[in-house]
Amino acid sequence: MKMFSANIEDLRTLYITNLKKALDMEQKITDALPKMIEKSTDPQLATAFRDHLRQTEGHVANVEALVRNATGDADTETCKAISGLVTEAEDSIKDASDTGIRDITLIACGQQVEHHEIAVYGTLRTWANILGLTEDVRILESILNEEKEADKLLSTISDGVNLQAAA
Ligand SMILES: [Fe+2]
Ligand SMILES: [Fe+2]
Repeated sequence: MKMFSANIEDLRTLYITNLKKALDMEQKITDALPKMIEKSTDPQLATAFRDHLRQTEGHVANVEALVRNATGDADTETCKAISGLVTEAEDSIKDASDTGIRDITLIACGQQVEHHEIAVYGTLRTWANILGLTEDVRILESILNEEKEADKLLSTISDGVNLQAAA
């Protein structure tokens, strides 16, 4: 696709709007993860959420720095998708009275969030690349890799937890 300078300006605006949404998303995940840790029965799952909370705090700081760098302040835009995923997760966890089923539910909800983040950062990285923002690309790519690792770890834990729940 050939980009003209007017397109580039529009893309820059779109990029900044979505960076601000990513910041709101990460802040909301930082609020949600402690509740997920608290509800986890499987120790490996609780540790995975705890480790990812620490990473997520890093994501907040990194994305905030990108927004600040692009706009001069750290304003956010509401990410409606993450609000929906968090509400959905809260409802599902409430419905799961059995601890094994609750762990499976927590993993499923956690992976839905990671998949959303992977989509968000994959897109932002591509746009940053088109805009020639080399440092942004590097930071977004490192966040993207942490989201992919978190998703993979949840898949691995899910294999064990699913077996236990089925037993
Ligand atoms: Fe994140
Ligand atoms: Fe994440």
